Amino acid sequence: MARVLVTRRMPPGSLDPLLDAGHELVGPPRDDRPMSAAELRIAAADVDAVVCLLTDRIDRSVVEVGRGRVRVIANVAVGVDNIDVAAAAEAGIAVCNTPGVLDEATADLAFLLILAASRRTTEAEADLRAGRWAGWNINDHLGQDVHGRRLGVVGWGRIGRVVATRAAGFGMTVRHHARRPTGDEGFVADLDDLLRWSDVVSLHVPLGPESHHLVDARRLGLMKATSVLVNTSRGPVVDEAALAAALHAGTIFAAGLDVFEDEPTVHPELVRAPGAVLLPHIGSATVRTRTAMGRLAAESVVDLLAGRTPATVVAP
Ligand code: GLV
Repeated sequence: MARVLVTRRMPPGSLDPLLDAGHELVGPPRDDRPMSAAELRIAAADVDAVVCLLTDRIDRSVVEVGRGRVRVIANVAVGVDNIDVAAAAEAGIAVCNTPGVLDEATADLAFLLILAASRRTTEAEADLRAGRWAGWNINDHLGQDVHGRRLGVVGWGRIGRVVATRAAGFGMTVRHHARRPTGDEGFVADLDDLLRWSDVVSLHVPLGPESHHLVDARRLGLMKATSVLVNTSRGPVVDEAALAAALHAGTIFAAGLDVFEDEPTVHPELVRAPGAVLLPHIGSATVRTRTAMGRLAAESVVDLLAGRTPATVVAP
C-alpha cells in the first residue's frame, strides 16, 4: 500500500482506481483551496505519489523534497507547465498527464468561443440583461460570419485537429501551423503567414519557452481588423496587454479567451476591452471529462506503483 497525496477534492469516483488498488489517500485541505508552496513541500515529504492539478506549482523545491520517495507526479491536465519536469526527471520521478480524454470537450469550448467572439454574444447579452435592448435594430450587434470563413489552427496536436473537424461542419477552410511540418494538407510553415490569412485564429500549443508570448503585439498587428483570436491553451501564449490594446484600438475584431497569463487575475484592460469574451478556464469542465481526467491520472499512478508503464508518461 502506498501513500498518495491528492492536492484538491476530485470529481466523485475519479480516484476509485487508487482506492481499489488499496492505496491510502492523503489530503486535500479540508476547505479545498489550492495548497501553498510550503504546504506542498511538507505534504510531498512522506508520500509515494502525487496527484495534482494545474493550479499546483510543483517547482524544484517540491520535487527535491520528494526525491528518493515520490515515484510519480500525475497532473490532472494535459498541460504540465505547472511542473518542473526537468527537475522531476533528474530526481527520477515520473510525470504523467491526461491527454486524449479532454480533446472533444476542449474543442467544443474553443468552438463556443469562436462563435461567441465572432458574434459578440457576450456584449449582446449584457445589453439585454441591463435593459438596454430597445428592440430589433438592423444595425445593432453586428458580428462576423463564422461559416465559410478561414480558420487558422496554431498547434496541430490532438485538440487542434478536433477543432478542425468542428470547423468542417461550418464550411470553414482550415489551415494549420506547427513547429515542424505535419505532412497534413493545409500546413503553413510560417506562423506570420497563417495569421495574415486567417479570419479566426485558434491557439492549441503547449506552454513552454518557445511559445511564451507567441502571439505578441507584432503578430497581432498581422491579423485582419475583422479577425478573431481564440485561446484555450495557456494564457502566457498571448501577450495579454498587447491583445487588450489591439481590441481597444480595433485592429482585431474580437477575442475569446478561456485562459489568462496570471490566473485567476485577468488583465483589467482585457475586462474592459470591446469584443472580449472571457471564460474562467473551463475548457475541460464537463462532468464526464473531468471525471475521466481524474481516473486517467489515478490509473497512471496505480500502474507506475505496480511497476507497469502508465499510458501517459510525459517524462522521463
Ligand atoms: C487544462 O487546461 C489542461 O491542460 O488539461
